[in-house]
Amino acid sequence: MTPHGFGHGKVILIGEHAVVYGQPALAVGLDVGVRVRLVRGGPRDLRVAEAFDAMARHADINPSDWGFEVSAQIPLGAGLGGSAAFSVATAKALLAIHKAPATEEAILALANVGEEVFHGNPSGIDATVACRGGFLRFVKGRASQQLRAPEPIPLVIADTGERGNTRAQVDAVAQRREEQGEATEALFDILGVLAGVATEAIPEANWKGLGSSMDAAHSVLQRIGVSTERLDTGCKWAREAGALGAKLTGAGGGGCLIALAPDPDPVLGALDELGMASFYLAAGAPSPTLKG
Ligand code: PMV
Repeated sequence: MTPHGFGHGKVILIGEHAVVYGQPALAVGLDVGVRVRLVRGGPRDLRVAEAFDAMARHADINPSDWGFEVSAQIPLGAGLGGSAAFSVATAKALLAIHKAPATEEAILALANVGEEVFHGNPSGIDATVACRGGFLRFVKGRASQQLRAPEPIPLVIADTGERGNTRAQVDAVAQRREEQGEATEALFDILGVLAGVATEAIPEANWKGLGSSMDAAHSVLQRIGVSTERLDTGCKWAREAGALGAKLTGAGGGGCLIALAPDPDPVLGALDELGMASFYLAAGAPSPTLKG
């Protein structure tokens, strides 16, 4: 059988950037993601060839022996964990060549090699969710905790159309931390507290509580400097259309925003008016309803 693998896309509900510095973060895996199929001597997808080559070499496989096909159900570079989904899918496919057992540990160790090419200094949250799916409370370097929601979380995900660069955003935050250490650490601490509030809100399906923490997290991310005018406008419009909370998701500098919307139609309509492709996802439900 052709070696192949799948990695889930994800959204970070709370805690991006702070998670790189040891704060807890909450993420949810999407049912959609990225598939990779390896074809001996086949064509290569040049957008991700550097990461593929690094991972293949790490797995003692000659990269030039293999071509690979990538089929992405999520936009790459939009804050939905596309690079991690690719890295996890590729790791599974490469392990299949060796017929090695695809344990989570083996997949994540190899996926991390790809993530380092994309990210520079990945916390590991993206790859862990890409591998597992579901809800996750993640702290760098510790065992992740799988969470359960009593009912699906009603999320609208919207793509601003601006393309952020995760590595550049992570580097910019590192720079800010170097220049304004205490102030930046204080902002990370707030994100850690908000992740804690959200961790308690989810098992109780307390969407008001979760929404408020999302709004607060967006303000903190603005202060950290990773939001854009378009992300801010999208969040504002989503709230005005009835969302209980809205924030950017992922590295920022563009990419996607998420809105907590038990009544999604007006929110989807408002974001459509801004020209943002958006879809509703009952996170935790079997399959998303795609729109736009
Ligand atoms: O932009 P994305 O989806 O790759 O998310 C990156 C999340 C960060 O916290 C900004 C970086 C990381 O490695 O955790």
